[in-house]
Amino acid sequence: MDDFEKKIDDALANPKNQGEMTDADSVGTVGSPDCGDMMRMWLKFSEKDGKKIIDRASFQAFGCQTAIAVASIATQLLRGKTTEEARHLSAQDLAGDLGTLPPMKIHCGQLVEGALRNALDSISTPAPANAPRHTLISEIHSSKPKALKIVPIEDPADDA
Ligand code: FES
Repeated sequence: MDDFEKKIDDALANPKNQGEMTDADSVGTVGSPDCGDMMRMWLKFSEKDGKKIIDRASFQAFGCQTAIAVASIATQLLRGKTTEEARHLSAQDLAGDLGTLPPMKIHCGQLVEGALRNALDSISTPAPANAPRHTLISEIHSSKPKALKIVPIEDPADDA
């Protein structure tokens, strides 16, 4: 087992911030066009020095172990970041201590980055308390798949 795999295993042994956040201020959902995996991220904000900062982040994944490990680390390092700081984090930034993502795993990190950006773009008022609750799994298996918002992952080569 190489060092990267060991770090993935360590992160998966005790994944952080996994699951729906019922009092979230925003939520983002993306699907990877590369592998069909999906991820949802919830964000809760607070104010500090007049700026909106991320107080908490959580995720739910229907995807590979690398995406889950990156999301676990990302939801920890997002705490205290301003929305602008969070917007500038790359997939590699979000992987934190996992180190450099192998080329075949970069899209796994981009799934997390996409969910974060979608959540940041979806900042709005929370859903009413009596609104129906949707989980990522329930929407995947829903008879109305159009209810699921799919956002293509951006190709980092386009930013060059
Ligand atoms: Fe699909 Fe990792 S293989 S996100």
